[in-house]
Amino acid sequence: MSEPVLVALRGASFAYEDGPAVLSDLDFEVREGRALALLGRNGSGKTTLMRLLSGGLRPGSGGLAVEGQPVTYDRKGLTRLRTTVQLVVQDPDDQLFAASVAQDVSFGPLNLGLPDGEVRARVDEALAALDITALADRPTHLLSYGQRKRTAIAGAVAMRPRVLILDEPTAGLDPDGQERLLDTLGSLRRSGTTVVMATHDVDLALRWADDAALLTPSGPRTGPVAAMLSRTDLLRQAGLRLPWGIAATQLLRAQGLLEDTAPGPRSPEDLAALMAAPATRPIPADG
Ligand SMILES: Nc1ncnc2c1ncn2[C@@H]1O[C@H](COP(=O)(O)OP(=O)(O)O)[C@@H](O)[C@H]1O
Ligand SMILES: [Mg+2]
Repeated sequence: MSEPVLVALRGASFAYEDGPAVLSDLDFEVREGRALALLGRNGSGKTTLMRLLSGGLRPGSGGLAVEGQPVTYDRKGLTRLRTTVQLVVQDPDDQLFAASVAQDVSFGPLNLGLPDGEVRARVDEALAALDITALADRPTHLLSYGQRKRTAIAGAVAMRPRVLILDEPTAGLDPDGQERLLDTLGSLRRSGTTVVMATHDVDLALRWADDAALLTPSGPRTGPVAAMLSRTDLLRQAGLRLPWGIAATQLLRAQGLLEDTAPGPRSPEDLAALMAAPATRPIPADG
C-alpha cells in the first residue's frame, strides 16, 4: 500500500465524558483511492473513530492530520477538514433538517460561502450522483427511509470531499436498496472519491472493499480485505464470522477446484464465473 495518506490519526485517544477510554493510542490512516471497510462488533468504536476522522469529536491526546498537516480545531481548520472529509451518519434523521431535499443538500456549500451558481451546480451534481434529481423539491419528511439516506449522502457529496465516510450505510436498506447504494459508491469511487464504510457485514466488506480495518480490543488491524477476513483469530477478537466468500474459497482449494494463488469468489456471481471457467473446471477421471 503506497497510496498517499489523506487523513491520519496518530497516537489518538478518546473517552466520552466520565467514561472509560473508547480508543487509546490509536494510529489509523485513510489512503487515497483505497476503499476501506471498518469492521467490528457493536460498541467496538467504529462510530467514535469515524467522528474523530471527520472532526466531530476531538481526540483527548494525539492528533488528526490531513495530508500530513495537523488539523486545528478552529473555524479555519475545521472548514479545511470538512472540505476534505465528510461523514454520513448512520441515521439520516440525525442529519436532515431542511424543508426540502434540494435545500438540505445545499446547506453545506452555502455554508462555505460559495456563489449561488456554484452552489446550484454542486446540488445538481450531488442529486444526480445519488439518482434523486426527481426528488429535489420533495419535503424531506415525506421521503422513504432509503430516499432520506440518499439525501443525507447527497448532502455530503455536495461538499466534494476527497474522503467520504459512511457509518453503516446499508443498515435498514432492502436488498435492492443495498445494491443501488453499492453502485452509487462505485461511481463515486471511479470519479476519484475515497470511500470508507463502517459495517459489521463481512460479506459486504469482502465484496466491496480493497482494505479492511478490524477493530479488536488491542486496536485496529488493517490490510488487504481478503487476507484480513481470512484471519480467524482476528475475526474472533473482533466478534465477526468468516465471510461466505472466504469459506467458499477454502472449500474450493481443498477440493482442488481453485489454484492456491488464484483469487477466490467474493460473491455468488464470482463463484458462478469461476465454475464456468475452463481452467477451474474439474477434469473428469477418464479424460
Ligand atoms: N455519546 C456517547 N456517550 C457516552 N458513551 C458513548 C457515546 N457514544 C458511544 N459511547 C460508548 O463508546 C463505545 C463505542 O461506541 P461506538 O463508537 O458507537 O461503537 P460502534 O459504532 O462500533 O458500535 C461504546 O462503549 C459506547 O457505549
Ligand atoms: Mg456505530
